[in-house]
Amino acid sequence: MSILVTGGVGYIGSHTTVELLENGYDVIIIDNLSNSSKETISRIKQITNKSVTAYFFDLEDQKKLNDVFLKHNIEAVIHFAGYKAVGESVELPLKYYKNNLLSTIMLCELMERHEVYRLIFSSSATVYGAPEKLPITEDSPLDAQNPYGKTKQMSEEILMDLAHSNYQWKIALLRYFNPVGAHPSGLIGENPKGEPNNLMPYITKVATGELDELKVFGGDYPTKDGTGIRDYIHVMDLAEGHVKALKKIDQIDKLDTFNLGTGRGYSVLDVIKAFENVTGEKISYKIVDRRPGDLATCFANPEKATKHLDWSAKYNIDDMCRDAWRWGTKNKLTNTLNN
Ligand code: WQD
Repeated sequence: MSILVTGGVGYIGSHTTVELLENGYDVIIIDNLSNSSKETISRIKQITNKSVTAYFFDLEDQKKLNDVFLKHNIEAVIHFAGYKAVGESVELPLKYYKNNLLSTIMLCELMERHEVYRLIFSSSATVYGAPEKLPITEDSPLDAQNPYGKTKQMSEEILMDLAHSNYQWKIALLRYFNPVGAHPSGLIGENPKGEPNNLMPYITKVATGELDELKVFGGDYPTKDGTGIRDYIHVMDLAEGHVKALKKIDQIDKLDTFNLGTGRGYSVLDVIKAFENVTGEKISYKIVDRRPGDLATCFANPEKATKHLDWSAKYNIDDMCRDAWRWGTKNKLTNTLNN
């Protein structure tokens, strides 16, 4: 029996693939390499000393997708494939709606045709919009504020309807907060093309000298030091959360939703300080205007995942900075992996 991982060459997909292989699962990857590199496959083999079957095509190619289901005995699917840049989604909404929604619909059509009903879906805390109360629980109102977040919210609605159409479906929606860090080997990690949008990869590139100075978006938020607070979660904790959800998937009645966060919030200045302490590198920064659409504070209540998935985050902010730094320095040296 195999686990199909869509987007398995990407940042969270590759780390989850490592965890699956190390937990004895056989993994089949489908990835269109739109935001990742084939080199990651050999890095996964280097880390786990296990082989993984990978296909490189777009999920909208129904014939190729059907062939994968015919060729392999798939017991469950973990669906990461999708575009995820908030800023780009505002500029190119149709690109996001077409890709993120169609790929999910096409995948579920094939799953149903081949009677594969176990699905873990990569969702995001962005579906919550501006939280009314903190920490955020799974029953908090959904109010995505950008096309990327709306594709996740719409996909969740589609999967909710699907789960209620046929009792055999068992769907876990995992809402990630702020994934950061990298595998401790430094062989895989996040490497956005061009200038990073997200905080941790930007800080890492300032530390390696690839970028000059961090712009801190806003110093006047109603927080302890005026800068934005987020729930950063180590990508290895996130990967383990997927394996735990897989192990518990048969206990789900149709569909259930889980926050994957640490339950702790860190400000931008906290992250800068932690990164400097851990790496000994000075991070030069300048506080500038707020970034449109940013929230002041966002962090999870992860109790439901702890209770029902037997999962909780183990890595702390120092681990996240240390592993991001190791990956950043190694990747800068090799600069071959455009993951
Ligand atoms: C974190 C904090 C910024 C960059 C986004 C997506 C979310 C998820 C994670 C996919 C904020 C500040 C950032 C910089 C800064 N992605 N910042 N200077 O916006 O919380 O979440 O990424 O699922 O969907 O919305 O993450 O890392 O961009 O920002 O000051 O150069 O760092 O203002 O307070 P965000 P982020």
